Amino acid sequence: MRAVVYDTYGPPDVLRLEDVERPVPKEDEVLVKIHATTVNRLDVHTREANRGGGLAVMALSRLVSGVRRPRQPILGSEFSGVVEEVGAAVTEYAVGDSVFGDTGLGFGCHAEFTCMSESDWMARKPAGMSFEEAAAVCDGALNVLWILRKGDVKKGQKVLVYGSSGSCGTATVQLTKYFGADVTAVCKTKNVELARSLGADRVIDYTQEDFTKNGETYDVIVDAVGKHSFKRCKDSLKPGGKYLATDGFRNLVLAMWTSRFGDKKVVFPIPPRYTKEDVGFLKELIEAGKYRAVIDRCYPLEDVIEAAKYVETQQKTGNVVLIVSGGAGNP
Ligand SMILES: NC(=O)c1ccc[n+]([C@@H]2O[C@H](COP(=O)([O-])OP(=O)(O)OC[C@H]3O[C@@H](n4cnc5c(N)ncnc54)[C@H](OP(=O)(O)O)[C@@H]3O)[C@@H](O)[C@H]2O)c1
Repeated sequence: MRAVVYDTYGPPDVLRLEDVERPVPKEDEVLVKIHATTVNRLDVHTREANRGGGLAVMALSRLVSGVRRPRQPILGSEFSGVVEEVGAAVTEYAVGDSVFGDTGLGFGCHAEFTCMSESDWMARKPAGMSFEEAAAVCDGALNVLWILRKGDVKKGQKVLVYGSSGSCGTATVQLTKYFGADVTAVCKTKNVELARSLGADRVIDYTQEDFTKNGETYDVIVDAVGKHSFKRCKDSLKPGGKYLATDGFRNLVLAMWTSRFGDKKVVFPIPPRYTKEDVGFLKELIEAGKYRAVIDRCYPLEDVIEAAKYVETQQKTGNVVLIVSGGAGNP
């Protein structure tokens, strides 16, 4: 099968298209023919061995992915596609089912086929959703769902979402709204309308206004893009307020510290523990018209280097999709 592989950590140019062995499903697995996948921040960080994160994060990244070279030569954690084969012990899926999901740190989705077990993060593709959109659902939304639940975000709370236009940001606005919060989104001018269309009650353009200086306070501030800090947000939190982080080693330390000391808390629950029920929950939200995946650009698999370079600008709006095979439209 065709796959994008890499055998050394580095910039996007380490990626190349190659023919590799097609995976064979075990008894409890299905073989999925991938129609679409994404290039996300997890792919970028892993391919670079997190070189921007400091020594400790770099070392941890290599421990997880392979010390000298990547153990898994195929990146890509999100997918949508069609079940091509089923193992003898599989009961939930049949050949021909359209599915979507996430392989997490197992990666392997920048390829024509991948194997998933029934208990993995996968569900049937939402009715009426294209393969491109379905491939872009899981990474941001699963992460945010996990964080919002751990932060106990609920109805009636005043929540500010900083960085509301990325993969996590677009998911955060929609999911906080779904949980019944009053949502203020913060983004650049060009994304203001998008944030409104996703359900934000108010939008602050950070090129015009600094939310930390306008006197407003919130029950929860979600830093959905890893560009703010607890220190700078603290005065904008109400007493007992929470700062929910999506990234940053320092937030791990702050989460431990504030769990014992001080009134305002940092919540950074890693490692995340997603379940396949979470994917099913997202499918239901999508089918109820309460969630959508925001897509910025689609590239053919062959243009993976260009796609990766674009994701590295950290300026994508929502998600960047790779079309693997006949990805367009519905089955
Ligand atoms: N723990 C996990 O499992 C997990 C999973 C997924 C992601 N993450 C982490 O979550 C973070 C966000 O990832 P992502 O994929 O959502 O990011 P992303 O899609 O690359 O974010 C791009 C968006 O960030 C905004 N942005 C860039 N610089 C900004 C700044 N200085 N202030 C405010 N907004 C800024 C841009 O919007 P504007 O043009 O509006 O500024 C752009 O639309 C990353 O740190 C990632 O590593 C963690």
